[in-house]
Amino acid sequence: MKLSIICRLFFYWAVVKLAHARTVFSGVSVNGVDQGHAVGVRVPSTNAPITDITSPNIICNTDYIQPVSKTIINVPAGGQVTAQFHHTSAGYIGKDPADPLDPTNKGPVIAYLAAVPSATQTTVTGLKWFKIFESGYNLTTHQWGSDVLFINKGNATFTIPSCIKPGQYLLRAESIALQSASSYPGAQFYMSCAQLSITGSGSTNPATVSFPGAYEPTDPGIVVQSIFNVIEYAPPGPSVFSC
Ligand SMILES: *[C@@H]1O[C@H](CO)[C@@H](O)[C@H](O)[C@H]1NC(C)=O
Ligand SMILES: *[C@@H]1O[C@H](CO)[C@@H](O)[C@H](O)[C@H]1NC(C)=O
Repeated sequence: MKLSIICRLFFYWAVVKLAHARTVFSGVSVNGVDQGHAVGVRVPSTNAPITDITSPNIICNTDYIQPVSKTIINVPAGGQVTAQFHHTSAGYIGKDPADPLDPTNKGPVIAYLAAVPSATQTTVTGLKWFKIFESGYNLTTHQWGSDVLFINKGNATFTIPSCIKPGQYLLRAESIALQSASSYPGAQFYMSCAQLSITGSGSTNPATVSFPGAYEPTDPGIVVQSIFNVIEYAPPGPSVFSC
């Protein structure tokens, strides 16, 4: 083998070895309209994972970039929201083989909503969450939610249920990496919360869960022996609410 080829192979090996799954949800689009980086989103200042599912940091992450946006993003019930994930807290900053995440790392992508008195309130404990989206493992395509996120350049797009009550909400969008999750703790949780005002005339109250609490250390969606040759996988948390 020529030396240049050996060097190049080593370079690719090093990139793959050094890249981490790390990813950050830092921007929102509404019906395809980009609201801007860190606008209406509480963006953690590092892309370090949360691994303790009993910590309050599992709710909306921690250590936000300051000042936190005061923007509340308007979304019609029934509209499409895109949570934009990128490798670092800075959003998209150019070509990066690990943007939005290292493609060798695998796991689900999930989104929840919680009604709040004010979407800019700092308190996030005690909220009641319902799941509106999950992308786990597709047994036909053999793709993880993380693979789909990678293909879509970090965009996870889902519908705001048309029947929920109008008002202020926090959106919690999460990417979970399972390549080190053969025991707990091991799964890596990457989430941020966005500040939404949902308009409409719905009145349905979905069943809810709490964070911490929705995830258990023995949850088969959180303890996964192998990310390869998957024969069944269900993301953690409740089932997805639909109207
Ligand atoms: C992802 O969303 C951004 C912002 O809305 C958009 O500019 C971009 O085209 C989307 N990329 C893909 C691959 O859908
Ligand atoms: C899996 O992927 C196939 C092909 O794209 C799609 O038709 C199917 O709905 C997917 N299944 C799930 C559970 O998302």
